[in-house]
Amino acid sequence: MAGNWKMYGKTAALAEIRGLLDLLGKGPRPAADIMICPPSTLLAQAHYAFGKRDILLGGQDCHPVPEGAHTGDISAEMLADVGATAVIVGHSERRRDHGETDALVAAKAAAAHRAGLTAIICIGETEQERREGATLAVVGRQLDGSLPPSATAENSIIAYEPVWAIGTGLTPTPRDVAEVHGFIRDSLGGRLGREEAAKIRILYGGSVKPSNARELLAVGNVNGALVGGASLKAADFYAILSAYS
Ligand code: PGA
Repeated sequence: MAGNWKMYGKTAALAEIRGLLDLLGKGPRPAADIMICPPSTLLAQAHYAFGKRDILLGGQDCHPVPEGAHTGDISAEMLADVGATAVIVGHSERRRDHGETDALVAAKAAAAHRAGLTAIICIGETEQERREGATLAVVGRQLDGSLPPSATAENSIIAYEPVWAIGTGLTPTPRDVAEVHGFIRDSLGGRLGREEAAKIRILYGGSVKPSNARELLAVGNVNGALVGGASLKAADFYAILSAYS
């Protein structure tokens, strides 16, 4: 269960992580791995303040190479150095804002593996692609192109995030989610072998909130959620985590 803070949060937002840990300490602890992916400016502080506690930390993007003359970029090794254990790659906002291709996403995922991080590899169709009935073709192509040869069930997580559901309040029906997640599981079987594919975690993302989390998490082949907006407030994220069973 991962929270993607995107480009939200200055140092004061660390109070939300503290608040989340307090809630987790008081209430029943969901049987999930819990991760926050804050902006990279907060990673080190979050790690030093909370890294020994119940929460994993992840980055939101990384460069494919370990170091070099790439102004403004951050490598997977740098994320690992400040306590991240995972990194999101290929989020649709990066594909859109930075023109990231499947090949680049695969290189970033391979970089994550090289640095010992779990790669959370994001895929998902646009509204138009869904309307045209191209959802499975698009998701299949993105999965195929974005998964590096180094991927295993241990070091990779797939996040299915329909672009039209991100930040819109819209979600696919449980039936649609089941169809895509089942398709992803089957496709992974072709790439990694059935046994490995059965173990890999497939997250759903896109407008997950306290009111719909239980229904979405109950869908077959949904192993967790990648939560954007609703992960920014401790109480909301905790309510979503509580829906995990
Ligand atoms: P959202 O974002 O929950 O705000 O829709 C999800 C994501 O982009 O990971």
